Amino acid sequence: EKGNFDHFMLKEIHEQPQTIRDSLRGRLLAEQGTITLSGLDKIENQLREANRIVIVACGTSWHAGLVGEYLIEELCRLNVEVEYASEYRYRNPIVSPKDVIIAISQSGETADTLVALENAKQQGATIFGIVNVVGSSIARISHAGAYTHAGPEIGVASTKAFTAQLAVLQLIALKLAEIRGTISRELFGVLLSELNEVPDKVQWILDNQVNHIQNIARQYKDARDFLYLGRGYNFPIALEGALKLKEISYIHAEGYPAAEMKHGPIALVDEMLPVVFVATKDAYHEKIVSNIQEIIARKGKVVAVVSEGDDTVTGLAETVMVVPRAHEIVAPLLAVIPLQLLAYYIGVERGLDVDKPRNLAKSVTVE
Ligand code: F6R
Repeated sequence: EKGNFDHFMLKEIHEQPQTIRDSLRGRLLAEQGTITLSGLDKIENQLREANRIVIVACGTSWHAGLVGEYLIEELCRLNVEVEYASEYRYRNPIVSPKDVIIAISQSGETADTLVALENAKQQGATIFGIVNVVGSSIARISHAGAYTHAGPEIGVASTKAFTAQLAVLQLIALKLAEIRGTISRELFGVLLSELNEVPDKVQWILDNQVNHIQNIARQYKDARDFLYLGRGYNFPIALEGALKLKEISYIHAEGYPAAEMKHGPIALVDEMLPVVFVATKDAYHEKIVSNIQEIIARKGKVVAVVSEGDDTVTGLAETVMVVPRAHEIVAPLLAVIPLQLLAYYIGVERGLDVDKPRNLAKSVTVE
């Protein structure tokens, strides 16, 4: 039931401190400084010997996969490719028994993902499933896996299932880095406690930003197009923010790596175009600030997600949405929350059925 919330989507957004905690529970033991993932132990030898990891997914789950790519490459120094299941399935990909395929699927029933996995399994690859629905088809054909434990998601546009996928990918990247010996004890400890603090930080966003984001939604609800820009770990979050807005508000939105803007999309920028920057404090911060200046110079309206206490962007943007400071590796788990809320409130302001957007189905069991 929806309880005190107007929609399942809003309820599920607000459940995220708890669902992220549930994804970490029993797996991340911050005080002992350990991560336990029985699914990974099961394929430990394959992981040790893997040449590469291929992540296969669709839609929002594919965005989680992109974050996974950045995480695993950085922490485990292992080559990762992220594939749209529909493309991977049909283009006769090169699969070897040394490949570990990570399938990401909230429903566990997405037809393209399922068939892509069946094909790869036949060719000898090891399949690891990151799935929310227990006992679903993708869970069953995987050799091993880790459930996301987000609970049933009723809103058609994924919110809490996405952050649960990110949380599990964080655990996998950290555990794999430990197995492969590519992370120092210190960094491992730092990232464990950063991850452990995420649920409280998500709660902070929900406690402090909701009314403000509702006002931003009122201000921008009539825009015809939106651009979402981010770099590094936040690039997939820009894609996800744009997808959420499209699904829920039917406003055309595109996500891009911020630096790609000057290779084409900047032609769209004028005083009518809101540009949402994911600009939390990280290694790319200076670069993203200059991207923001480029947009402002062309009269675009900048809305930015920024880290608490960082004033660099506040003076430049029309408005900012604030998230607590965090290590850049866990930042996507925080940065996506204001973007979910923005899409939700714009949809509500436009009087739309945010729980059941037109033309969409919760699980896509046809290709
Ligand atoms: C968007 C959304 C979809 C799904 C996609 C894959 O909000 O939910 O893009 O992510 O259809 O579904 P799963 O994760 O069930 O395989």
